[in-house]
Amino acid sequence: MNQAIRPGSEAGRQGGDLLQLSVVVPTFNERDNVTALFRKLEAALAGIAWEVIFVDDNSPDGTWQVVRDLARKDGRVRCIRRVGRRGLSGACIEGILASSAPCAAVMDADLQHDETQLPKMLSLLESAAAELVIGSRYVEGGSADSFDRARAGASAFATEIANRVLGVRIADPMSGFFMIRRDRFEQLAPQLSTQGFKILLDLVATAHGELKTVEIPYSFGARVRGESKLDSMVALDFLGLVLAKFTGDVVSLRFLLFAMVGGSGLLVHLGTLFVGLTVFDLPFAESQAAGAVVAMTTNFILNNFLTYRDQRLKGLSILWGMLAFYLVCSVGLLANVGVAFSVYDQEPIWWLAGAAGALMGVVWNYAMSGLFVWRKR
Ligand code: GDD
Ligand code: MN
Repeated sequence: MNQAIRPGSEAGRQGGDLLQLSVVVPTFNERDNVTALFRKLEAALAGIAWEVIFVDDNSPDGTWQVVRDLARKDGRVRCIRRVGRRGLSGACIEGILASSAPCAAVMDADLQHDETQLPKMLSLLESAAAELVIGSRYVEGGSADSFDRARAGASAFATEIANRVLGVRIADPMSGFFMIRRDRFEQLAPQLSTQGFKILLDLVATAHGELKTVEIPYSFGARVRGESKLDSMVALDFLGLVLAKFTGDVVSLRFLLFAMVGGSGLLVHLGTLFVGLTVFDLPFAESQAAGAVVAMTTNFILNNFLTYRDQRLKGLSILWGMLAFYLVCSVGLLANVGVAFSVYDQEPIWWLAGAAGALMGVVWNYAMSGLFVWRKR
């Protein structure tokens, strides 16, 4: 498949050479990095027919404008500007599906990934030595010096969980730097979660060991411009993905996150009830009601930050969303109690009736929240 490529910046698409590599770069507020990355790609990929697709989620800093300007001057650059959507995994998936080379790489825009590894990764795919090549920080020769201790620890812990629960035998399944054969990606794409940020882990887990994988070492550099978008919520995000894959995708990642938030609400409820009764000496009914309101509020906030982070409500919409959420949950509570009663009526087993009611409640709340609170635009 290798074509004879003319060297120089115009190599590739014009002389009838077939495109070999698409580089997909998700961006959010990276305006100061994209031009530098493009120049680095140009240098690293001399002699290869390549294109780069930036997938920008309508960055407030106007990253998409900078990319557009680049694209006007150089046909190898393309820009996908997504509006009303957020999320790293979804951006990568759309970018790969919009690309056309037989091999697609994903890398960050912030110059933390080592673009000089790309030719090596490409030749591993083109020689059929691999279907997936991972840039790994945790194989011999790789490193992540720019990580602080806490983040390095969290990363190692997540890798361990992925290994044990999902049987993913990879040193760095959290890497955001990899290259894959497009035919293999297209097969797996329908089962991937667009939510969250662990696209590589998702790919590997979804492929069930059927993807011939090679890891090559690289050093994860330091971010010079702009800031990281991954906050502490990604830990829960990760847990949700592991659970979704563990259950064979019978439930969606979003539903699992919603249910996990619901579980945290139960703890908040009991805590508030306890404080109401013991600290404030309130009667049981008042304490119980306070527990419900506080739990609904923390559930709303967590769901807005985590479960629906890609559709996060802001400003005044938060207020309306919160009121709608209270309403949805109140009806959900009726449904919960109703179902629990009728199960108990048939079969007086308290935990079975309670669990059935709770399940009904969370399914109802989830379905109705999607319709009335975090509506897809
Ligand atoms: N389109 C889009 N939408 N891009 C996003 C979004 C989003 O919601 N969030 C982040 N990005 C882009 C960033 O602009 C950057 O190019 C890339 O995705 C990685 O985001 P960073 O915020 O720089 O992530 P990081 O450096 O903290 O994390 C890196 O290391 C992790 C390993 O611990 C990434 O490579 C992660 O993918 C990786 O898991
Ligand atoms: Mn980064």
